[in-house]
Amino acid sequence: MCGIMGYNGRENAIPIVIKGLKNLEYRGYDSSGIAYFKDKMIKIIKEKGRIIELEKLLTSDKTNVCIGHTRWATHGKPSQVNSHPHIVGGVTLVHNGIIENYHTLKEDLMQKGYSFKSETDTEVAAALIDSLLSESKNKIELLEKTRKILKGSYAFLILFADEKETMYALREGSPLIVATNETGNFVASDIPAILEYTKNYYLLDKEIAVIQKNDVKFYLNNQEVKKELLTFNHDLVSAKKDGYQHFMLKEIHEEPVLVKNFLDYYLNNFDLIPDISKYNRIYIVACGSAYHAGLIGSYLIEKYGDLEVIVEVASEFRYRKTFLDKNSLVILISQSGETADTIASLRKAKEYQAKTLGIVNVVGSTIAREVDQVIYINAGCEIAVATTKAYTLQVLTLSLLAYKIGLIKKIISSKEKEIILKDYQVLAQEIKNLIEFDYLKFARKISQEKDVFFIGRLIDYYIALEGSLKLKEISYIHSETYPAGELKHGTISLIEEKTPVISILTDQTIYEKTISNIKETKARGAYSLVLKRKQFYLSNDIYDDLIEIPNATDLVSCILTIIPLQLLAYYTALELGYDIDKPRNLAKSVTVE
Ligand code: G6P
Repeated sequence: MCGIMGYNGRENAIPIVIKGLKNLEYRGYDSSGIAYFKDKMIKIIKEKGRIIELEKLLTSDKTNVCIGHTRWATHGKPSQVNSHPHIVGGVTLVHNGIIENYHTLKEDLMQKGYSFKSETDTEVAAALIDSLLSESKNKIELLEKTRKILKGSYAFLILFADEKETMYALREGSPLIVATNETGNFVASDIPAILEYTKNYYLLDKEIAVIQKNDVKFYLNNQEVKKELLTFNHDLVSAKKDGYQHFMLKEIHEEPVLVKNFLDYYLNNFDLIPDISKYNRIYIVACGSAYHAGLIGSYLIEKYGDLEVIVEVASEFRYRKTFLDKNSLVILISQSGETADTIASLRKAKEYQAKTLGIVNVVGSTIAREVDQVIYINAGCEIAVATTKAYTLQVLTLSLLAYKIGLIKKIISSKEKEIILKDYQVLAQEIKNLIEFDYLKFARKISQEKDVFFIGRLIDYYIALEGSLKLKEISYIHSETYPAGELKHGTISLIEEKTPVISILTDQTIYEKTISNIKETKARGAYSLVLKRKQFYLSNDIYDDLIEIPNATDLVSCILTIIPLQLLAYYTALELGYDIDKPRNLAKSVTVE
């Protein structure tokens, strides 16, 4: 989604801001722009498309203060005029988030004589701030007033025409940091933007930040406040490709080491995995792949912990009637920790006094800070929009939660415990073996088709959902997932000669039923690719191609099974020549509703 980068310091700010914006490219965007003072006037350069298009328009100008933005269209199509920065009168700004009441504000401002060039809510915010300039000379007061008027979630980085040496930042909801090094100060929506310049940053909350070359001040309710300087302790290396053609491939190859480190750490510090057996109602709430991880978690917790779990997409959960109380637990899963709907769901859970547990990757993110308890998955920076390593570690976290309740409630016997621990022990190596398999030959077949179907039952259905999402996200091939028994209620009519049907067969309790459903698709000419647990017997008329998953308990098998599906999606997109790390229209972190 949109990215913000600004610099005020002794160096030339333009290349720094451009570099910062490039570091945010992975988040997904469709246009970019910068603004700075040139001969006492604001100069704005912006363009539709990749940052490389913006770079073509840059001159030899040098400046010490510059703000920049990558836009992911929400209000108005991707275009030069809709891209940021926007200037109205004495106010130039870039914006992340959404202004919900922009429509009424726009009408009021038009009556006051303002006219608008773009379709954006951002230009309305710039006009609003400009209209307040006459009422308030003090910029802090002015921005506090602005906050009271605007509804929605937003982060602004602002230049005022009468203050050439200062940047102002205002945040409500959408993430924003202020970072600092010996040359000056930075503002960014996300840490990767500034990591090559500094690891020291302040996390803005509701404060207004006033950023000068040698100084940063924070204000809350018109009073100056002190903020703690934080240090980002993660490895910068993980933000580089390390010789891999794409981040997605690199991130899949990181999985064995990350899984091993995660298990070594949490199995040796098992008290850090909370006991969730005491709650009378458990919800798992998340979006996208994290939601799919939640579905698998529900299956595992129900099976090993004998507890019912309700899994809900965050954009639904936040508005639906819920039955939460202080004895409920809401588990929020989020790689970024900044997904708008997941944050809203967390706040709703808190309103009802439910306990909240976060499964989060980004340290210090909003969800990590606001939940009662957080388990960090420690996946490092995930750059590819299509998540792989973070998803795997989310499932592994849920696997440990289920394992822990199973032990506490004595549902897992000591003999089973031994088997499970052994499975955890060899998991990293088994993932490594699966990564080495040749998936390209299957990907070549899939890449020639326009529709793909995934089927499975129970946990295999949940795994299939994620496999299908991966494929469509990056290869743009239409892909649907069905509980295997449901296919014949309509969708089977879409199966034609060679239509790929990818079937997941790992659930011991039900795989024979799925086999019958695979036969139904084969009878209609489908190309059948089956992922099956090694120990299951399958006659060779059921499949055209086969991928075997090592035998393991469900707590582990669900993690093994996703690896081939991640790689299948990767190689299919590679075969089709798409921009794998930055798929069209998608964003890494969805900070708007
Ligand atoms: C976006 C990403 C997905 C991700 C989802 C939830 O749609 O493209 O990969 O699963 O958001 O993100 P979160 O950061 O909350 O896990």
